[in-house]
Amino acid sequence: MSDLRDRAMVPPVAAQPVTPVRVPLATAPLGIWGSLQAGRRNVLELIPEIATEAPIISGRTGKRWHMVMDPDALRRILRDRVEDYPKSVVTKLILEPAIGDSLFVAEGQEWLWQRRTAAPVFSHRNVAALGPVMTHAAERASDRIAAATGRAANLFDEMVTATFEVISDVTFSDGAGFDRASVHKAIEQYISQTAKVSILDIIGAPPWVPRPGRMMTSAAMRDMKRVADASIDKRRAEGAKPVPDLLDLMVAGEDPKSGRRMTTPELRDNLLTFIVAGHETTALTLSWALYLCAFDPQVQTEARAQAQAVLGDRAATAADVTSLPLIRQIVDETLRLYPPAAFLSRTAQAADTLCGCEILPGDTVILPIYALHRHRKLWTDADAFQPARFADAKAVDRFAYLPFGDGPRICIGANFALQEAVIILATLLARFRFSLVPGKSPKPVMILTLRPEGGVWLGVERA
Ligand code: HEM
Repeated sequence: MSDLRDRAMVPPVAAQPVTPVRVPLATAPLGIWGSLQAGRRNVLELIPEIATEAPIISGRTGKRWHMVMDPDALRRILRDRVEDYPKSVVTKLILEPAIGDSLFVAEGQEWLWQRRTAAPVFSHRNVAALGPVMTHAAERASDRIAAATGRAANLFDEMVTATFEVISDVTFSDGAGFDRASVHKAIEQYISQTAKVSILDIIGAPPWVPRPGRMMTSAAMRDMKRVADASIDKRRAEGAKPVPDLLDLMVAGEDPKSGRRMTTPELRDNLLTFIVAGHETTALTLSWALYLCAFDPQVQTEARAQAQAVLGDRAATAADVTSLPLIRQIVDETLRLYPPAAFLSRTAQAADTLCGCEILPGDTVILPIYALHRHRKLWTDADAFQPARFADAKAVDRFAYLPFGDGPRICIGANFALQEAVIILATLLARFRFSLVPGKSPKPVMILTLRPEGGVWLGVERA
């Protein structure tokens, strides 16, 4: 009896851990076989725990590789010596069959003219003009979520649907026979089949290890390209929409230096790039943000108060974004804890020294953004969810926080993504209350992007 009484006096065990879910990083060297196994499971498990303490880690698993977490070295790789550190061969192998030699994969002059042509398309004014498409997607997402109130819903699926609506509406929306569902399926299949290629190549697996992605012959992919080409030709013939979308702006675009304009296949590859690079990444940001708000009800309550004060009953618009600073801070902090592009890689072209380590031409240089964002020397309480860290964005060391990369190859769609994320998140938080579902925490797994395995299941109530 007394035993029971004593136990009853023990304070209750905290119902939830103090930090949100994280990936267990490797604590012992993995060797080639261990790396292969871990890489197949979750590429983030290849990152050793000491990557959150050290400036650089070097090793050899078939190929020489270096993981760089030092902001000054990252500045050198991404900005000051960008020509010496082009995107890795791996990135190209994965993406080229889907999106050709487009902005995301091209190098040198071939990249430069495309970047110059596309940059004005993503100007603040053009992105703001696309706000109504995002507001509409936020309305539709809230209608779907309203139907799930009182139950648990997979918010990851909902957010993928919402961001795919946005990106397809601003690219091929009214194209002949553009079937949203089938294009979406083709892209999903492609990503899941090719993910393993990247993992095997990053760690330098020998060539006899079968690469499933390379064996793929994708009829769906060919189909998608054909449909996209037809949409472009139709739009050329019919002229731009009253509010030009990304397709119109790209069709009208020209390289300000050379006057060169994109051919139909070049336009198609770039627009498909926007779809591939832009929708899942933004959906991940939104669903991890909702998970974090459910994890921290206090933050959620404050964010809801702000969203309701600004919006009342209406959905958020592009004009509201600057009035919603806490929502933006939640998005920034989400991108720190769960950066969708958690692992970037480059192939060194020239000898160099980074943090005192010798870099040789051909070495793989890995930028483990996930570890950088949780680095003990760069962030206090690195694993904790604290949106207020971004209250003064200027106080954040630029090269310690790289959710969109940096330098000339920084994400061209960053403003588009941030505007979309704030519009959708503010609308949902103003209208609903999200809570964790016991036993259903999302598990972060890296498959090209950092995804929540099993989805993000949250309880939903009307606010
Ligand atoms: C939260 C959402 C997003 C995240 C986290 C993200 C992340 C990134 C990162 C890290 C890079 C640089 C990759 C590297 O240097 O290896 C990148 C490049 C790129 N992103 Fe995004 N992205 C997002 C949304 C978008 C959107 C919405 C679009 C287009 C509509 C887009 C289009 C691109 C393109 C075209 C590039 C290549 C740019 C170049 O090399 O010149 N992204 N993105």
